Amino acid sequence: MNSTYDVIVLGAGAAGLMCAAEAGKRGRKVLVIDHAEKPGKKILISGGGRCNFTNIHTAPDRFLSANPHFAKSALSRYTPQDFLALVESHGIAWHEKTLGQLFCDGSARQIVELLLAECARGEVVVTCGETVRQVAHGDGRFTVTTDRQVAEAQALVVATGGPSISKMGASGFAYDLARQFGLKVVEPRPALVPLTLSGDDALFRDLSGVATDVVASCGKAAFREAALFTHRGLSGPAILQVSSYWRSGAPVAIDFLPQAGEGWLIAAKRESPRATLRSLLRAALPDRLADTLAERLALEGPLANATDAMLRAAEERLAAWTFLPNGTEGFAKAEVTIGGVSTAELSSKTMEAKRVPGLYVIGEAVDVTGWLGGYNFQWAWASAWAAAQAV
Ligand code: FDA
Repeated sequence: MNSTYDVIVLGAGAAGLMCAAEAGKRGRKVLVIDHAEKPGKKILISGGGRCNFTNIHTAPDRFLSANPHFAKSALSRYTPQDFLALVESHGIAWHEKTLGQLFCDGSARQIVELLLAECARGEVVVTCGETVRQVAHGDGRFTVTTDRQVAEAQALVVATGGPSISKMGASGFAYDLARQFGLKVVEPRPALVPLTLSGDDALFRDLSGVATDVVASCGKAAFREAALFTHRGLSGPAILQVSSYWRSGAPVAIDFLPQAGEGWLIAAKRESPRATLRSLLRAALPDRLADTLAERLALEGPLANATDAMLRAAEERLAAWTFLPNGTEGFAKAEVTIGGVSTAELSSKTMEAKRVPGLYVIGEAVDVTGWLGGYNFQWAWASAWAAAQAV
């Protein structure tokens, strides 16, 4: 016999648990199904185990989507302060680390426990370790058949995330399901992901382990944060941020001395003509990086030996050192997936598919991707909350 619910949520991650809890507290009878053996696995590994659960600077321009306006409605109706109030109501201690990023003082497990406690308050049934075999739709009802049960509901919420980090249970299931219902999917790509270097740039891989504060930019997007050289290329927050804007063949520019004012090298020559570029760079950057840059710029000897034009050229190069990444480290290392179920298919107010009443898509499965720093969880909470008011 089929079990009947008001709402079936596929995916017990950040968005799925939030939506289930809120719908349950509204009196809806809710079932959550996940194929992983436990809920919230990505939450558990997030923020280095402390979960960067929101960002107080959340604003629509910190999200990428084919429709930059889509996220506005949900983000304005469930804000970082709303989630923070929930965190505090569970007695979870938190701190702001940097750039508006809020983390648990203790452990990311506290966020999973919060969500499960809220689900319990809403009398939500959460089942894990179940494989969804089929989703059928007819007579205004969705029937979900798993390897253990057949369940029916008027509303089906797809919250199965994107394919980044498959060992955490991630899959492209949401896209397959969307296509089954005739919804368009914006090509999914790895985002918040390290970039790989080859050719001439590959020499920088010798600097593996060196990190420094930079401004990294790709097109119009620019981020001032740390960059890290790795044995495969470039990583660190500044690089992860620009990776979301990067397309194959595009250059990434790095300003290695964002604090230096224009004309600093010529001024340094006037002040200390016997200083070398290497010594100046060593004062501002890690030694290994300073040496590599000085060698590449081929400006050996005292600054007094160089013309102003040579120094200006060196300064310009240091302010916009161009790398041509040959790829990314892929979904296996990507923190999120950019692209996903097209926002053109969904109501921005409820996340319901315009052409399939009763079908909702939330969280990372949707073509809305946040910057690094708690924005992606805020989108998960906000899109989940929006759907939960409507199901
Ligand atoms: P999420 O991936 O959380 O949940 C999807 C659920 O669906 C999973 O439980 C999965 O098992 C399940 N599922 C998948 N396929 C299924 C299927 N076929 N059948 C049934 N169930 C299925 N963001 C942030 O804001 N702050 C941070 O600190 C971090 N840190 C971070 C670290 C790392 C290492 C990663 C990989 C990612 C982050 N993120 C992050 C991103 C954040 O984890 C991500 O944006 C949210 O978890 C997305 O929430 P969703 O609920 O949409 O997907």
